[in-house]
Amino acid sequence: MPDMPELDDIMPLPQKNEAVTAFLKARRSNMAKVMGGAGPSEAELAELLSIAARVPDHRKLAPWRFVIFEGQARSDFGQHIGAAFMKANPEASQDRAIFEGARFMRAPLVVGVISSPVACKRATPVWEQQLSSGIVCYNLMLAAQAAGYGAQWLTEWYAYDADVQGALGMNAGDQVAGFVYIGQALAPSTERVRPDVTAKTSYWGI
Ligand SMILES: Cc1cc2nc3c(=O)[nH]c(=O)nc-3n(C[C@H](O)[C@H](O)[C@H](O)COP(=O)(O)O)c2cc1C
Repeated sequence: MPDMPELDDIMPLPQKNEAVTAFLKARRSNMAKVMGGAGPSEAELAELLSIAARVPDHRKLAPWRFVIFEGQARSDFGQHIGAAFMKANPEASQDRAIFEGARFMRAPLVVGVISSPVACKRATPVWEQQLSSGIVCYNLMLAAQAAGYGAQWLTEWYAYDADVQGALGMNAGDQVAGFVYIGQALAPSTERVRPDVTAKTSYWGI
């Protein structure tokens, strides 16, 4: 990864970058249900994760970790999701259990981002650490889309299931920040309703 900066490199000053602005203006998630094809190579994935990790992070705690699901691991992990679903919904049909267990099969790559707030001497509030984990998910999505992949940030029910969390090796205080689904976008998204930014904005004192 020759183009990633080294420690203490002098970083370029901000410059107008119309391509990035246009990319951000048109940014839209790609639905996991219409994802497929080949995922990133090992080298591409390493680059995506390195970019994802370049986030604002109060006191440089890196209070999160990645869990990669590729190939067979997606269906193996799906067994935990399917079993957790049946435990919570014992009346559900076998077809539904199969559907739930196949969730990670929607994309060639799923990256779990686990928020793991750390205790530090001059405590950074947990909320700030969790925000940093959220930006990791978003940065990963942007990096994947900039590399030409479709990406969607999902949690769905299984992010909150104790058995599934156990299978992810999560500790008390950890949260699933997101499962970022990455693959070829097989169909375009359509624009969705966006907030009225003016209604959401005020000038203090006016
Ligand atoms: C933390 C988080 C969890 C999400 N989980 C889900 C989810 O479980 N299911 C879903 O349909 N969308 C979920 N979304 C929303 C999608 O990722 C996406 O933001 C949404 O489809 C809007 O599209 P956009 O990103 O193009 O604005 C989640 C978003 C966030 C920030």
